[in-house]
Amino acid sequence: MVEKTIDLRSVRKIVSEYSNVHDSNLIAILQQTQDEYGYLPKQALKEVSRLMDVPLTRIFGIVTFYSQFTFIPRGRHAIKICTGTACHVKGVNDVKQKVKEQLNVVEGETTADYQFTLETVACLGTCFLAPVMMVDDRYFGKLTVDTVTDIVDRYSGDNT
Ligand code: FES
Repeated sequence: MVEKTIDLRSVRKIVSEYSNVHDSNLIAILQQTQDEYGYLPKQALKEVSRLMDVPLTRIFGIVTFYSQFTFIPRGRHAIKICTGTACHVKGVNDVKQKVKEQLNVVEGETTADYQFTLETVACLGTCFLAPVMMVDDRYFGKLTVDTVTDIVDRYSGDNT
């Protein structure tokens, strides 16, 4: 996937708040950078390296050591579809297939417009609502192929 061009002003502002180059500061900068962009764009890491005069290899070393960091662009909204037993029994496979077709992605992928990232999880802990999915931090239960389409439509094209 070709990395989209990012606005580097945000990472410059983050770095400007730190004066010392310690690993703990680097981690904090990387966390804030990921919060800002939703992932760690390579352009942003190069900018951190340049501004803090830290070798890029050292930054990559930190990023790859901690599992909280990701190089993969994420969508504005995270869709998590439960594929646990209760949801499976209640027909989540049809729901999941509908979402995949609607967004033209498979599990783990982000849509071309960066609006959604689709994931599956083992159990969302709300089996009584099966089949269930979450969009960001909101639960949607007793899904059907029709209701899930409406829900995804609601989040499409918004700027929340
Ligand atoms: S199995 Fe889906 S919420 Fe528990």
